[in-house]
Amino acid sequence: MSGQLTLDDLRALDERDPLASRRARFRLPADGVYLDGNSLGALPRRTPAAVADLVENQWGRDLISSWNGHDWIGMPQRLGGLIAPLIGARASEVIACDTTSTNLFKLICAAMTAQPGRPVVLSEPGNFPTNLYMAQGAVGLLGDRVLRTVPVDEIAGAIDESTALVMLTHVHYKSGRKLDMKAFTAAAHAKGALILWDLSHSAGAVPLWLDRNDVDLAVGCGYKYLNGGPGAPAFLFVADRLQERLHSPLPGWMGHDAPFAFEDEFRPSAGILRFLCGTPSVIGMAALESGLKEFDDVDLDALHAKATALGGLFIRLMDQRCDGFGFELASPRRGESRGSHVSYAHPEAYPICQALIARGVVGDFRAPDLLRMGFAPLYTSYADVWVAVETLHAVMHERAWDSDMFRTRARVT
Ligand SMILES: Cc1ncc(COP(=O)(O)O)c(C=O)c1O
Repeated sequence: MSGQLTLDDLRALDERDPLASRRARFRLPADGVYLDGNSLGALPRRTPAAVADLVENQWGRDLISSWNGHDWIGMPQRLGGLIAPLIGARASEVIACDTTSTNLFKLICAAMTAQPGRPVVLSEPGNFPTNLYMAQGAVGLLGDRVLRTVPVDEIAGAIDESTALVMLTHVHYKSGRKLDMKAFTAAAHAKGALILWDLSHSAGAVPLWLDRNDVDLAVGCGYKYLNGGPGAPAFLFVADRLQERLHSPLPGWMGHDAPFAFEDEFRPSAGILRFLCGTPSVIGMAALESGLKEFDDVDLDALHAKATALGGLFIRLMDQRCDGFGFELASPRRGESRGSHVSYAHPEAYPICQALIARGVVGDFRAPDLLRMGFAPLYTSYADVWVAVETLHAVMHERAWDSDMFRTRARVT
């Protein structure tokens, strides 16, 4: 499609979209557009019944026998098995557990202690804060280690024999820039370092080939594109070839080789289970499992192509309709370099975002000045993109954002 885009063009794309029927499986606002699935995925329609079944029939009726009878105990691995194909990994390399922050801490410490002669964790300034905080906490506890941050384009050149771990986020939470996983992983390996990727803004939206790219370690969120619900369990990946070499700094009983032998000494389980800590949050796991089932039979190539197309059309429509309102594209224009969200810088981004939400278009604000729109390819339609840009045009044209009621900052932005 060249030239000016029209609503009919976008409707035609929806008609041809092989994923279009998936939208009906989610609960979405009847008269609005939800473009924040990169922050909190929408509710799959089947999830309330799945959670109710777990609560009513499993917990409520079968009580503790459910650990075996409904295989609650196997949930971290079972869900890991559902996540694995979405990230190009083997089922034996992935478990669902804890939070992304906790999983970062576990894997940073594991990578550092496995390489005592290498004191440096290397990352980028402006990485997601929890990643930096977890690394700061880990190096502080381990002693004689440092977190070094250099701009992402200088990372490859900064890796040397002192580097134990390169820690990067695959799709940046603000800019949406997608890093070249293969090239960064190869650069780390060339100097004997390990690499840890945060896939929070990638899994469920962009193509990931962890095994093919020889990735060592990874973590990611369950509540964004994986649709697991607020505070859903996260996931972690450890390549099969590394599992016996690495040890969790939080050796809880669920990571023990025989938790119900109740031994005094920790003996790590074989394989990925050694990275578990405590009892799985079963209700949260049930919601995440339901969310993951929405990816059953999905053509991942179509999913990834749609994610790129939605963001690209948003940028084109912004050029077409919102030029002259002071927005500056803060994401890569090229689809291959972008994840599934697009951000624009604007000095009034906060009130603009609130005014949009008041008109039913839900994106979010990232300080200091970004308006961020996420395109969850399972349920966002092409026509949604049109509505979002038209609404933004109206908000800007009418200066609807310029009101005190939109300036009060909420705790969560
Ligand atoms: C890149 C990235 N990592 C980690 C997190 C959050 O981790 P947690 O689930 O532990 O709060 C986020 C949350 O938005 C994120 O964007």
